[in-house]
Amino acid sequence: MCGIIGYVGAQPALEVVLSGLRRLEYRGYDSAGVAVVGAGVLRTERRAGRLANLEKVLDEGSDAMPGTTGMGHTRWATHGGPTDVNAHPHTDCTGTVAVIHNGIIENFAELRTELENSGHELTSETDTEVVAHLLEIEIARSRAASGSTGGSATTAAAAVAAAAATAGTAGSSGAAGGAADTGPTGPHPLTEALRAVCRRLQGAFTLVVLHQDHPEVVVGARRNSPLVVGLGAGEAFLASDVSAFIAHTREALEIGQDQVVEARRDGVTIYDFAGTPIEGRRYHVDWDASAAEKGGFPYFMLKEISEQPAALADTLRGRLSPEGSIVLDEERLSDQDFRDIDKVFIVACGTAYHAGLIAKYAIEHWTRLPCEVEMASEFRYRDPVLDRSTLVVAISQSGETLDTLMAVKHAREQKARVLAICNTNGSTIPRESDAVLYTRCGPEVGVAATKTFLGQVAACLLVGLFLAQTRGVLYGDEVAAYVDRLQRMPELVRRTLGTVEPVRELARSLAGAKAVLFLGRHVGYPVALEGALKLKELAYMHAEGFPAGELKHGPIALIEPGLPVVVVVPSPRGRANLHGKIVSNIQEVRARGARTIVIAEEGDTAVEPYADHLIRVPATSSLLAPLVTTLPLQVFACELALARGLDVDQPRNLAKSVTVE
Ligand code: AGP
Repeated sequence: MCGIIGYVGAQPALEVVLSGLRRLEYRGYDSAGVAVVGAGVLRTERRAGRLANLEKVLDEGSDAMPGTTGMGHTRWATHGGPTDVNAHPHTDCTGTVAVIHNGIIENFAELRTELENSGHELTSETDTEVVAHLLEIEIARSRAASGSTGGSATTAAAAVAAAAATAGTAGSSGAAGGAADTGPTGPHPLTEALRAVCRRLQGAFTLVVLHQDHPEVVVGARRNSPLVVGLGAGEAFLASDVSAFIAHTREALEIGQDQVVEARRDGVTIYDFAGTPIEGRRYHVDWDASAAEKGGFPYFMLKEISEQPAALADTLRGRLSPEGSIVLDEERLSDQDFRDIDKVFIVACGTAYHAGLIAKYAIEHWTRLPCEVEMASEFRYRDPVLDRSTLVVAISQSGETLDTLMAVKHAREQKARVLAICNTNGSTIPRESDAVLYTRCGPEVGVAATKTFLGQVAACLLVGLFLAQTRGVLYGDEVAAYVDRLQRMPELVRRTLGTVEPVRELARSLAGAKAVLFLGRHVGYPVALEGALKLKELAYMHAEGFPAGELKHGPIALIEPGLPVVVVVPSPRGRANLHGKIVSNIQEVRARGARTIVIAEEGDTAVEPYADHLIRVPATSSLLAPLVTTLPLQVFACELALARGLDVDQPRNLAKSVTVE
């Protein structure tokens, strides 16, 4: 998830862009960059690190980068670490086209090979850079179409200038609230070039593009990634979200899927990827700037819960190579190294540890390798038996949790191989690892992990499939079938989030409860633990998760009349008799007066007589169920904490990344 802003108007573009980036930094902050077109020159500046690093090298006065057309980007790295070279904007060979991007271009590797084979020199590790060079080709094609010859950058730019002149400066609609329209003679050549490039891209993208010789226009495009237009008086904005321009205008225009937008001082024009003019939906933004950063939600946690379908889709995107193999983001081990593995350890903390517990079921089921899961803070003190045939999987959203980092260092000292699952590109734990799979959830601002947990679970399942495939235990078609089922999960997550209003009502009714117990079996047990942790850390309420089978060995003594007990029920289609046993467990606690809150898949009627509150989730295969059964528990804990008047974004005593042991 990255922050993007484009501007065309009368104000100094650098000031407008930097102020917009400050508002967008919550969307990504491992590097930042700007581009401004002025006096016939395209200037770019970009730096790794926070936006402040970039501002240090820029004189914010408009004389540093003169011009009233510009764009800026704050990055949350997916492909290529947070370095100056990988920071956006990226430019083409001629240095006359600049592009910024949010999303994942799934087919960038093939496009990069094609470009390099035709002589283009790409310098970064990013997926984005291919767009700049594809635009260069489209602009050269525009030159050919206009009949001009020669190959220099200025020729290409001159051709675009000539073509633009015939397109005429745009037309009728005033930007001040003017609706979308087509210019008098159709789209700007830069718009056409971007449209042609978008038709070659697979994956998710918001793109914004500038051209050195065209200060009159900023063009953008989107697919499966946000882009919104701000309509000002004699100026227009393209941005990831309204917080970037809300200080200048509250008049906005929605851009739909697979659409390109041409923003000019005197109007905005939208086309679909087939080139048909589109009327965008205009609306008035009535949020304040702070609410805008939270997408209109009162808390980041609520926004991040709602982002889970996209976060999951982004984590899963592009994970199968054209040959049908699962691909990790970084591999410094050979296939033989992975085939030599005879034991897996998973180390993590808190919510990440719960994801690891789920991973255990998948890894053992698919690979037939023994898999242990250990809290990172305990791992190295138990003298684990590790050697070169051991794979240690370290799960960490931040990539900086010291307990997990120290476990990784211990594993490496014992010659074990280390694979990191992490949400933060360029953080310490991935750097210490032999292989990496990044979740692509974007920054998670709320201290309580939500979308990153779903990303971790998906990543764990991908690692399990990767190991099984590499070791030949699962065939390619079996892996593809599982990946296909995973690809359908974002829609099931979206559907589940659309049905949680009863969960919110239930949570509010339990705001006065003294404690809540959570029960589960199989992968439902780690989900029960995660539900309990959410309630502890958000509502400061005593909550405990147990394997349902453990009840009779002690915890059932806790059951008393009215005590809320949440039960995460496995699919009746899953492991034999597991479902029947947990239905018995529900009866046992209900018989002792518990208030049963049952999470069960649609169609499971066996639980109905014993559920005081029945929460339905879509039916899925057993190992994927946590991707939906966790959602009501996140909402439950969050809503109960809110009912208690607590700050769910920054719960007391907690930090987002625990960098102490
Ligand atoms: C969970 O809601 C907490 N934020 C905490 O348990 C967290 O999962 C744990 O500290 C691990 O953090 P990491 O994923 O950044 O390593």
